[in-house]
Amino acid sequence: MSEPNWKKLDKQATAAEIEIALLKEQIELLLKSFKPDTSQIVSNVNKEEFERLQQENVKLKHRIIILTRTIEMYKAKDKESVPSMINESEDKLSSMSNIPQSNTISIHATLWDIFHKAIMAAYPNAKKSLISITTNSNPKFGDYQCNSALPLARELSTTGNKLAPRTVANTIMSKLKESPLVDKYEIAGAGYINIYLKRDFGQCALSNWLTTGEILPPYVEKHRIVVDFSSPNIAKEMHVGHLRSTIIGDSLARIFEYLGHYVLRINHIGDWGTQFGMLIAHLQDKFPNYLTVNPPIQDLQTFYKESKIRFDADEEFKKRAYECVVKLQAFEPDIIKAWKMICDVSMQEFQKLYTRLDIKLIERGESFYQKRMEIIVEELESKNLLEEDNGRKVMWGEEPGKGVPFTIVKSDGGFTYDTSDMATIKQRIEEEKADWLIYVTDAGQSLHFQTLRSCAKKAEILKDHHRMDHVTFGVVLGEDKKKFKTRSGDTIKLIELLDEGLKRTLQKLKEKERDKVLSEEELKMAQESVAYGCIKYADLSHNRNHDYIFSFDKMLEDKGNTAVYLLYALTRIRSIARTAKVTQDELQKCARDTPISLEHEKEWKLAKVLLKFPDIILEISEDMYLHPLCEFCYEISCAFTEFYDKCYCVEKNQAGEIIKVHMGRLLLTEATALVLEKCFALLGLKPVTRM
Ligand code: ARG
Repeated sequence: MSEPNWKKLDKQATAAEIEIALLKEQIELLLKSFKPDTSQIVSNVNKEEFERLQQENVKLKHRIIILTRTIEMYKAKDKESVPSMINESEDKLSSMSNIPQSNTISIHATLWDIFHKAIMAAYPNAKKSLISITTNSNPKFGDYQCNSALPLARELSTTGNKLAPRTVANTIMSKLKESPLVDKYEIAGAGYINIYLKRDFGQCALSNWLTTGEILPPYVEKHRIVVDFSSPNIAKEMHVGHLRSTIIGDSLARIFEYLGHYVLRINHIGDWGTQFGMLIAHLQDKFPNYLTVNPPIQDLQTFYKESKIRFDADEEFKKRAYECVVKLQAFEPDIIKAWKMICDVSMQEFQKLYTRLDIKLIERGESFYQKRMEIIVEELESKNLLEEDNGRKVMWGEEPGKGVPFTIVKSDGGFTYDTSDMATIKQRIEEEKADWLIYVTDAGQSLHFQTLRSCAKKAEILKDHHRMDHVTFGVVLGEDKKKFKTRSGDTIKLIELLDEGLKRTLQKLKEKERDKVLSEEELKMAQESVAYGCIKYADLSHNRNHDYIFSFDKMLEDKGNTAVYLLYALTRIRSIARTAKVTQDELQKCARDTPISLEHEKEWKLAKVLLKFPDIILEISEDMYLHPLCEFCYEISCAFTEFYDKCYCVEKNQAGEIIKVHMGRLLLTEATALVLEKCFALLGLKPVTRM
């Protein structure tokens, strides 16, 4: 027997290539099983069997086409940007064995690459920054567009090389290589190059998601990222600003985790500082036997207020409070115990919120850095970076005199928020080996983080290869456009806010009589999914730097770009296959041999929207603005509605019986569901099967 085909392949064969070789062999075997005179088989053997084999053959051939295209697709990608196994030596292969091959291609990156090569070939001195690829919302101008010819012509003219942008566009065109992604290029207007995607590619890319059953992340270089978010303060109220940080930070962390980065989700709780002096002194008075009997503190905020009143009015109490701070910083056991008790009460409250919103965080408050603060002060001192200022020790950033300096040591010898963040950044870089630091707080702290960056650079803690981002956000307003408060002017308790959300959602569901169709359990799941989903989504769907108005009425609307609308959309999409009695498993299997239907204009339009997914995610991982992901979800559901209006997936007769299931279209609905589900997971929304 001759050597099987796949063994003949060299060591650099990709998984797909191996699969193709195996399939070819299978086909050969099938073909061999037929005698040359097929008519004889048909009559002699078994007509049914023959037809079955013929169908099998068609399916296998389809699979080969898909796999071959996949290979082409990856080959077209820059070798550096996708660790496909193509062209890798065996050593490299085994070292990369823990990197799963992605089934997701960034169209933007691929096109950028194609144009980069062409532009460099035409104009070797062109600046990389001039290469720009955008998506086109108007299909008249193609699906994507390269806008580089115009700025390039301008640039060339400064070196005395006067060329019309259209001429430049023509030259670029002449250097463009064929790509499995691109159907055609076309020059338009003053010198734009319109790019039309190939349906074949779309079919292949979506098939790959369906056969894998999930959308693997596009390849990115991996980082160690610390996301510092939520970070409320003990005994002080956790306000809506903290809620924004919690929601935005969690979604960012989800995206980074999805992309395969190593992510540390840190809750930098304010659990250290002078406020503990008065809290502990008050605890000692109110619950003298606190060391033996757990004090029944119900409401830490009231407790905080009580102690603050005493602190401001009673000199003797104030003195004791200060003594408690000194004892706390000296780690006196009884005082530490009191401190811990107070922290625990707060933490239990915070945890309730995190559990309900399904948010995971590592609790590592300011107290964790106490010793490290002493160390950083010594370090800064020894590097001569501290300056005396009215008894304080301050540190200027890289440009002394600019902005405000950090107060590293107060005149009473105590440390500050600034000191703790200097110790924190050092810990994250040197101990956690993080190379990317993200802080999610309101924009009001911008100056603090600018100074932190500058001081950390000056102290040579933060180096050029580290990245630091302050992810800022605006204020939450009430419907009266004033700061979000209760009617009596108090800060709104977050748990009460969630309860209100649950209550209002249930009302809505009952208005729609969903309680009559859903089981008790289903109703509860729908209620939680909608209530928490809408609170998160309302926050994430706005540009984070804008102030936003918190309105349950708006977020619970079932039309427009809201969580309710989208969650409904997904259940509707998923119910199409259910009506056709096709399971998700069957769809996944079916995708191996049935092409996704993309002939109809609306099918192709929907597919092109879905294919933008990796690019949306990659962009967010750069600028950390999450609202485009929400807009993308909305765009998907709109494109889906258009498709569903025009293209039947399941045909029924007048009696309502199914007479035809359009599998190619059902596959497109499944691909839509996969993308939407992935987006929801990244936004922290929990879809339900029925609602
Ligand atoms: N606890 C602070 C606040 O409530 C936020 C802390 C943010 N993180 C940090 N490393 N400074 O404003």
